[in-house]
Amino acid sequence: MNEFGGNWTKTKIEILVDYAKAYLQIMKGKDFFKLLYFDGFAGSGSIIKDNKVDIDITVGAAKRIVEIDNPRPFDRYYFVEKDEENIESLKEVTQDSFPNKQIFLVNEDCNRKLIDLSNYLRNPENKSVRTLAYIDPCGMQVEWRSIEALKGLNLDMWILVPTGLGVNRLLKKNGQISEAWLKRLEKFLGISKTEITDLFYTKSPTLFEEFTHIQKEDKAIEKSAELYGNRLKEVFDHVSKPYELRNSSNSVMYHLFLTSNNKTAVKIANDIVKKYNG
Ligand SMILES: C[S@@+](CC[C@H](N)C(=O)[O-])C[C@H]1O[C@@H](n2cnc3c(N)ncnc32)[C@H](O)[C@@H]1O
Repeated sequence: MNEFGGNWTKTKIEILVDYAKAYLQIMKGKDFFKLLYFDGFAGSGSIIKDNKVDIDITVGAAKRIVEIDNPRPFDRYYFVEKDEENIESLKEVTQDSFPNKQIFLVNEDCNRKLIDLSNYLRNPENKSVRTLAYIDPCGMQVEWRSIEALKGLNLDMWILVPTGLGVNRLLKKNGQISEAWLKRLEKFLGISKTEITDLFYTKSPTLFEEFTHIQKEDKAIEKSAELYGNRLKEVFDHVSKPYELRNSSNSVMYHLFLTSNNKTAVKIANDIVKKYNG
């Protein structure tokens, strides 16, 4: 069972479910489209709040999506999960509980399956497939090249971006970022380390030429959300305003975006985001 989350975990799932229902409503009666639901970080099927005193179990996104029959169900469900134990419990709440639905579970890395998804959707035989994807990592596992591979496809995607919990944490205040962390940032953002440091740090000369004062951008979280949103706009025609997931001290941990090549999709997502951002 996945152990994390607070109310934002629930809200994230409600946003996805609200959107999926609106999406399925639009697709109702359009039986010529084969609807694929792709979940790249599917989890164990349920989420237990990390609070030993007051246990709070939330039904994970996978089951919430599989159980939708109205306005119409998806035709196929594809769940990717790297952890073997999670796959076992996910199987119980999806495949075993819904034997009449076409549910596929794969114990793999999401990056690899995103590339496979891209190849599958590009095959002319699959031109009637329309995809809703949900990319819900806990950290910086998604590589930019996997997102780039989705360019031009008939795919709407909710993607959770660890701006506060990921990018901002790796951007050390004093600018002394290890090579390993810089590599991670490069893979995640798809830009070079020089671009990263130029974007997030200002250098000013001190009295002696050989010393420079390095100052981290004050609003690094907001800046990383803006950067990632702009990167997404290079791949998709439309990107929603993000939903901000904040912790109990009101710090932003993640930004959740919807991307699509369809304008209406993003209009619907913006309405949902506005409702939950309050
Ligand atoms: C935030 S949880 C997903 C929660 C899920 N969406 C839900 O609603 O229940 C992230 C999951 O991704 C899995 N994971 C981590 N790295 C992965 C990777 N590279 N590819 C696929 N799954 C991965 C973890 O084992 C974890 O279960």
